[in-house]
Amino acid sequence: MKRPVSPSVHRFLRRRLLGAAAFAGVGGALTACDSTARAADGGNCVPTERDALGPFYVENTPVLTSLNRWNRAGEPMIVTGRVLAADDESPVAGARLEVWQTDGDGRYHPQGNGPAEMYEDREIDMRGTVVAGDDGAYTYDTLVPAPYWPRPRHIHYRVSAPGFRTLVTQHYLSDGEPVPGGPCRSGSIERAGEVARFDGPVIYLSRV
Ligand SMILES: [Fe+2]
Repeated sequence: MKRPVSPSVHRFLRRRLLGAAAFAGVGGALTACDSTARAADGGNCVPTERDALGPFYVENTPVLTSLNRWNRAGEPMIVTGRVLAADDESPVAGARLEVWQTDGDGRYHPQGNGPAEMYEDREIDMRGTVVAGDDGAYTYDTLVPAPYWPRPRHIHYRVSAPGFRTLVTQHYLSDGEPVPGGPCRSGSIERAGEVARFDGPVIYLSRV
């Protein structure tokens, strides 16, 4: 019978395995999005790469678990992911993820920026603030964002938590084709069931 392995032991073993594989020069076989695998010095993790804020960031959006506040038409999708500390991969409990994306037609709501108080409530859509749990995990439902020229499908994030540097980044959603965000900021949309699923790459925050 297999004995259960504690999370700390598992993490230690995984680091040892990744470190040994990197040393052996088989980096291509590693889990590409593991921060340990990305670390240049083979020991310390690195935070998620920053990306452009873009012109459509709205502050003070409501806390929610469904971005599609006004029931727009489109392909439903559930997004999951985790927020971890870059140095030791511990969960960032209560991390706030400000999320914004296009609807199924490639439009933001609003197509503008500034505080949410500037807009009518009906104008705030396909965006909101998602709060991670004690284990750093987050989930929300939304629609599959449509791409808009010249950009591939993506979701914007501004992630903040006490004791950590605020991170602005984007996740790129692949339909099978390569996307420009690199393996550490992109993933594939899964369409095995009625609702599409996207398990976002881990978001690694650096401590202040
Ligand atoms: Fe965008």
